[in-house]
Amino acid sequence: MKLEQKLFKGKTLAILSGGGDTPAINHSIESIRNRASLLGFKVYGIRKGWKGLLGDGDIVDLTNQPYDGWYGGTALRSSRTNPFPSKKNPESRVPQVLKNLAKYKIDVLVTIGGDDTNGAAKRLFETEGIPVIGYPKTIDNDLRTRTMHTYQGKEIEAVLCPGFPSAAKAMSEFTSKIKTTAESHSRIIVMEVMGRDAGWLTGSAIFGGAKLGLVPEFEITRERKEVFFEAVKEAYMKSRNRYLVIPVSEGVRWYDEKTGKVDVVYASSEVDEYGHPRFGGISGIIASELYVKLGIEARAQISGYYPRAGHCRKYDRRLTATLADKVVDLLLREDYGQMPVLNKIVPFMELEEFNTSSIDMGTVGNKPLSTEYYDIEKFSFTDAYCDFLKNILDQPEVEDFRYDFPVVIP
Ligand code: F6P
Repeated sequence: MKLEQKLFKGKTLAILSGGGDTPAINHSIESIRNRASLLGFKVYGIRKGWKGLLGDGDIVDLTNQPYDGWYGGTALRSSRTNPFPSKKNPESRVPQVLKNLAKYKIDVLVTIGGDDTNGAAKRLFETEGIPVIGYPKTIDNDLRTRTMHTYQGKEIEAVLCPGFPSAAKAMSEFTSKIKTTAESHSRIIVMEVMGRDAGWLTGSAIFGGAKLGLVPEFEITRERKEVFFEAVKEAYMKSRNRYLVIPVSEGVRWYDEKTGKVDVVYASSEVDEYGHPRFGGISGIIASELYVKLGIEARAQISGYYPRAGHCRKYDRRLTATLADKVVDLLLREDYGQMPVLNKIVPFMELEEFNTSSIDMGTVGNKPLSTEYYDIEKFSFTDAYCDFLKNILDQPEVEDFRYDFPVVIP
């Protein structure tokens, strides 16, 4: 049978990106736009997340426009705007969103985001019946995607969100660079890594030569702190050139001698429209306590926005395209309120649509680092985690300069 016209001719699909950016958002937008265009949709971009659907609307036309998906960040811009009432903004802006969806004749909405952006999309789908497809993104990799990882015959529930592969690659490269200066000065460098509630990204530093690490999932109580200091001393003494790079998540909960409490370190008292505060500064505290306790020179390094910045890497390019293939399937079946996900952790070559499925956006939430991936006793990431990373990053970045020069005896 020959179709007279493209299936979705006359329909409009709009894409928005919300929350913290990643290097893979432009590639996600380009991949979704290309496939939606083939189906016949006119494709719009909503600028600055949900904010672009407020007021008069801030919408651009992406149909038949050049789009560089390799370039990091999001050309549609982003914001942490929440259309639903929040503590910071008690007034509901959902009526404005609905008005603009109607005004711009948007038939389907694709929301690229984490738990917050997709959570709001899910509410719009459930309460207002807006046809929505959620599309995952976060460098923190803590959005539950129900992606299984088979390791030594055991099934582990992992997560794989676009943005994480590029960020993890950047973190492993960053760590391997930091390592050289730590070695020169026989120092410990405590390296702070983004991750408010989960240590997925922090763990990627082991592919750059880090040995120990701290994650938000396991708090450092007064007693655990002493055990940690001992583990650091032992690892430092064992290290070949007397150095250590210790990645710590920004959201690590650490015992504070002055207050007698375990808490996170806040960068600011401000919260966003989803109620999240900003963390920052834990690396400085840990570095100075390590110096006082162990007498080993220690410095802090905040990796900050580095893993969130720059080009979309190879694995992410194929992952975003694969998930966009699944979006086509959802569009064809008009199966809304769903989010495409990868079924299992696979190497680059196996990123294919047949390895994807979709999950009900109602079941999307946060997923901490799986317990199989972190050894609480040793403060280190496990072999299972290394295997998870190996699928995504292939090989570690670690290089060594082995200098066993003969000592001159006069
Ligand atoms: O998107 C999540 C995240 O990467 C967190 O790890 C971090 O706390 C946050 O973004 C910081 O984002 P921003 O400074 O852009 O608000």
